Amino acid sequence: MTTTHLGRIFHVAGRPTVTDADTALAWIPDGALVVDDTGTIIYCGPRDRRPSAAGPDGVVEETVHDHGDAFLIPGFVDTHIHFPQTYSVDAYGGGQLLEWLEHCIFPAEARLADPVFAARAARDFTARRVAVGTTAAMVFGSAFPHAQDALFSETERTGLRLVSGHGIQTVGGESAAPLLTSESAAIELTADEIDRWHAKDSGDVATALLQVAIVPRFSLSVTTETLAALGELYADVAGRGVYVHTHLNENNRPGTGEIDLVKGTFGVKNYLDTYDGRFLPGSVVGGAGLLGRRTIMAHAVHCTDEELARMAETGTSIAHCPVSQQFLGSGTMPWRRTVASGVTVAAGTDVGAGDEWLISRVLADAFKVHLSEPGDDSVAIHPAQMLFTGSLAGARALDMEDRFGNFDVGKEADFLVIRPELWPPLDSILQHGIRADDETTARDQTLFALLMGLREPAVAEVYVRGSRVTTPS
Ligand code: GUN
Ligand code: ZN
Repeated sequence: MTTTHLGRIFHVAGRPTVTDADTALAWIPDGALVVDDTGTIIYCGPRDRRPSAAGPDGVVEETVHDHGDAFLIPGFVDTHIHFPQTYSVDAYGGGQLLEWLEHCIFPAEARLADPVFAARAARDFTARRVAVGTTAAMVFGSAFPHAQDALFSETERTGLRLVSGHGIQTVGGESAAPLLTSESAAIELTADEIDRWHAKDSGDVATALLQVAIVPRFSLSVTTETLAALGELYADVAGRGVYVHTHLNENNRPGTGEIDLVKGTFGVKNYLDTYDGRFLPGSVVGGAGLLGRRTIMAHAVHCTDEELARMAETGTSIAHCPVSQQFLGSGTMPWRRTVASGVTVAAGTDVGAGDEWLISRVLADAFKVHLSEPGDDSVAIHPAQMLFTGSLAGARALDMEDRFGNFDVGKEADFLVIRPELWPPLDSILQHGIRADDETTARDQTLFALLMGLREPAVAEVYVRGSRVTTPS
């Protein structure tokens, strides 16, 4: 039995680098995406060339969903979003990163101490993900185990993909106090979450929708003892496919900003050293590191060449969050230099510092901020690179490129049905926008219009592994 979805298909095929995404862009105006009953893609191409679904007895065993003029695109991958900040989008009164954390965010996250409030946040967070088509996400977790349990349970009930972990903080000021634990509790809570939730749904990390990460908030929220203990824990569990997620080089205000405080507190040469086992003064090795193919650093706006090279060498990825970077005045990750370093750059909303849940809004801001970079750094990101960054690059950053991120045959079918008529401003630019005579340019213009004009109401249907995902009642 197969299920066929008919529509206008865009995806970035194969395993390109971001700079090759335009040549890998597949545009199939009369497309068919055919999925078997395990949710695996068995065909993606023109509808009139799809394989016959007739069984040996000649009976056709195919369910067809004709989505008409709708677009079928890969599900969005959000590689950095904060669950306990579900209600903190647009939090006012903070200023830049450290003040915003202290005045707005730590108090907001402390509210999840109440299990009823935490359960509501888990429901609302997961419903928001469905609404914006974020089929896979690296989710920065809560300090409270009951809140994490609510997040995993709700996500499992809904059918989305999730990587998340207890937000670890062992030092901090007064407003962070409700979020702090002892050194030993930080390790115990994380290890316990790994045991209870990592690949819990299928029992096998190769097929699981639910997975766990080790999540130190950032170096200023932990001590050298915490980092040493987390390195030991990671060495123990990395073989089970456990992830690491944290923040890096976000705010560079001189003297009092995040980066200078990290360097001053730890006495390290660069920020990345604190996550690389070199967290003792002078960047001396103090324990095992946290970098690797399943490690994602949020922001990485102000990296040195050495830091980028080390991330590339270890397979560590970057969650690029331009909406948030503007909201907190953090600057702009240099696109050309970062991409040229070979590090995988994927997209992150960073809700709540990011005030947009929809990954295409992040891609739209990426286009704007990188075109506005000074001099030769200015770049007009190709629409295929935008789509790549919001889908396949995210799957790569999550080390699950073999499973989803595009419509290659053999992958699990994570996709969105975009119906432009549900958002008239999108519909009208698609219908009446200027298009070149040559097909390739017209294709690129259409994809650009789709990504720039997309808003939540047009995300009509969301599928993970071939199954429709809806918000449970
Ligand atoms: N650095 C440490 N915590 C946070 C957070 O919650 N949001 C952002 N944007 N940066 C952080
Ligand atoms: Zn963040």
